[in-house]
Amino acid sequence: MTERPTRPILLTGASGALGRSLAAYLAGLGWELRLTDIAPFPDATPPGADFTTADLNDGVALLRLAEGCGTILHLGGVSTAQPFEDVLGPNIRGLYHIYEAARREHARVVFASSNHSIGFHERTTALDADCDFRPDSFYGLSKAYGELMGRLYWDKHGVENVNIRIGSCFPEPRDDRMLATWLSYADLHRLMQRCTLAGPVGHSVVWGASANTRMTWWRRDHRARVGWSPTDSADVFAGQLAGKTSGSVVAERYQGGGYCIPGYSREAPSPADLFKD
Ligand SMILES: NC(=O)c1ccc[n+]([C@@H]2O[C@H](COP(=O)([O-])OP(=O)(O)OC[C@H]3O[C@@H](n4cnc5c(N)ncnc54)[C@H](O)[C@@H]3O)[C@@H](O)[C@H]2O)c1
Repeated sequence: MTERPTRPILLTGASGALGRSLAAYLAGLGWELRLTDIAPFPDATPPGADFTTADLNDGVALLRLAEGCGTILHLGGVSTAQPFEDVLGPNIRGLYHIYEAARREHARVVFASSNHSIGFHERTTALDADCDFRPDSFYGLSKAYGELMGRLYWDKHGVENVNIRIGSCFPEPRDDRMLATWLSYADLHRLMQRCTLAGPVGHSVVWGASANTRMTWWRRDHRARVGWSPTDSADVFAGQLAGKTSGSVVAERYQGGGYCIPGYSREAPSPADLFKD
């Protein structure tokens, strides 16, 4: 029998692409799950799980949902580049509600952060997890804020948290960039499992990418603390995706790819710009 958490797990964003898949995986391990989302759960509720509709803006609802939980897997919120006002409620205020609930329950938070928190680093740069944030969008900025929220709640309140900077988590990589950034669903599942079961994690940051040969951008992180390493690789898709690039000078220059483009109002970069930060 596989190891199980001693307290229930709260999974936000359960109706989303990753949440649905993760709910099915964790339920299959026999874990007790509380699923929540603002949108209805699109599947049959898995055994050992219940689903409650809630808005991340509703702090009281989140306090109730988190009662007795040992871990909050926080996947809910705006998940693409959107205007500031749309990101503000779910991703900024919602994060505060999640951390207040975790503080009250002495629960661990596992936060679905994003590569878009560091998206304006050049693709030629290899980053350690303690690199500067360089968000590429208000969405990426909200993920940087979420990671810093974890920093604050660990330092001030001892709320443990793991921040997973997810690259591109889809059933299969879709373009040339994803040959570097792809995270398979199976690698995500095991990572979330390990983040929940691991011993002390403090405030940790893990790059969420599979074992892709092209992933030269992201290196030292805290994966050893949680006991995870990826087993899948985008390499098998290289033949069909090589050369499938965006055609944008900006997107191809930066790690965040297409998220760097909307609203971009600097002159198109040239190599001579490299150090003009
Ligand atoms: N899929 C990826 O490649 C990827 C990459 C980086 C980060 N992430 C992060 O992982 C998480 C899951 O991603 P996904 O691809 O499943 O996204 P998704 O958009 O499919 O799921 C997000 C879920 O959050 C819910 N949500 C939005 N606003 C809400 C609110 N106010 N209250 C409650 N729920 C709300 C949505 O209804 C949705 O079901 C997100 O936080 C996303 O930012 C995903």
